Amino acid sequence: MNRKLIINAKGIVQHGRSHVVRGKDMKELPVYENAWLVIEGDKICDIGHMDEPFHTPVNDVIDADGKYIFPAWCDSHTHVVFAGSREKEFVDRIHGLSYEEIARRGGGILNSAKRLQNTEAAELYDSALERLDEVIKTGTGAIEIKSGYGLSFEAELKMLHVIKRLKESSPLIIKATFLGAHALPAEFKENRKEYIDMLVNDLIPIIADEGLADYNDVFCDRGFFTVEETDRILEAGCKRGLQPKIHANELDFSGGIQVGVKHNALSVDHLECTGEDEIACLLNSNTMPTLLPGTAFFLKIHYPPARKMIDAGLPIALASDYNPGSCPNGKMPFVCSLACLYLGMSPEEAINAATLNSAYAMGVMDLAGSLVKGKKANLFITKKMPSPAYLPYAFGSDLVEKVFLNGEEQ
Ligand code: NIG
Ligand code: FE
Repeated sequence: MNRKLIINAKGIVQHGRSHVVRGKDMKELPVYENAWLVIEGDKICDIGHMDEPFHTPVNDVIDADGKYIFPAWCDSHTHVVFAGSREKEFVDRIHGLSYEEIARRGGGILNSAKRLQNTEAAELYDSALERLDEVIKTGTGAIEIKSGYGLSFEAELKMLHVIKRLKESSPLIIKATFLGAHALPAEFKENRKEYIDMLVNDLIPIIADEGLADYNDVFCDRGFFTVEETDRILEAGCKRGLQPKIHANELDFSGGIQVGVKHNALSVDHLECTGEDEIACLLNSNTMPTLLPGTAFFLKIHYPPARKMIDAGLPIALASDYNPGSCPNGKMPFVCSLACLYLGMSPEEAINAATLNSAYAMGVMDLAGSLVKGKKANLFITKKMPSPAYLPYAFGSDLVEKVFLNGEEQ
């Protein structure tokens, strides 16, 4: 089997552990200094210290030359399959309209849905693949992708088939999430129940039977879907083996966190509106609170209380939310910088949140999120930098030099 040896790493970041990191432990980031790492096939096969060289013959030696090796990022929340950009709404927001006003006027998610319904699957696939190639360059190694710009029986299935093709062809680890309840299509305005009936009775069974999604999502928030509607959709998914992973509490104290936890959601995401009750509820759960600071930054809404949450003992995961409306950017190093600057997280906390905790939040802890023997060789070598904290510090810099996915350089 093909064996590659990477020598002279200044440090192997997030080495030797594979579990959720919570509360005060989030401050600790293990770094194995002056080390080598061996890749065999598509997996990490060994890690050791430069003072005790690796002796078995290898096909390739890569000199990291005093740079760091990081596990590739896990981006546990994205919407990278979409048709067209929404810079017109960006300009509308600059001129004073809010995200919710734009949505009420039929823009926002409904705007993206109209475009996606009129776009061929092949074109959706090509543009999404380009976005995936772009985020690989900044070190992403695993990504979750949602439907939710279809918003009709046919178009939701079209999106999920595109994600399935991406899973088959991209070197990334990909998880698919069904988000039929992303927004209510205008034609169901007077009959919300009919649309939800269609999701529950028609779409969820087919999606589950055909294995088109790993998870089930609802946008449980003011102006989108209520707690009762969310409850029903999550229950239907759970019955068919689709664990929830939901959008909650972005715009209001919506009850989304509580209903997610009630259904044992793998993660609840956004959480800009999180108070004592929500924190207490999360502390009693296996649900990963996932924060998307790129969205709060781009929409100029207030940031979630990450510090309070971590200090209360919670874990936090970070993801990009890459989508055309609220965060047209999927660069995880920038997400880490925003987490440090606006969520009050230390660089170590941000890196833990964007690797191990986000691996948990998308169900890939056994494959990704840390540099451990037996996991996928999804990792990157940085440019020269003085410490791991330099990566979020030097925001916007291009510090990812070489990316390996499944053991192959990209
Ligand atoms: O996660 N909050 C809901 N959904 C997306 C936004 C999608 C859009 O505006 O197109 C989000 O931010
Ligand atoms: Fe989202």
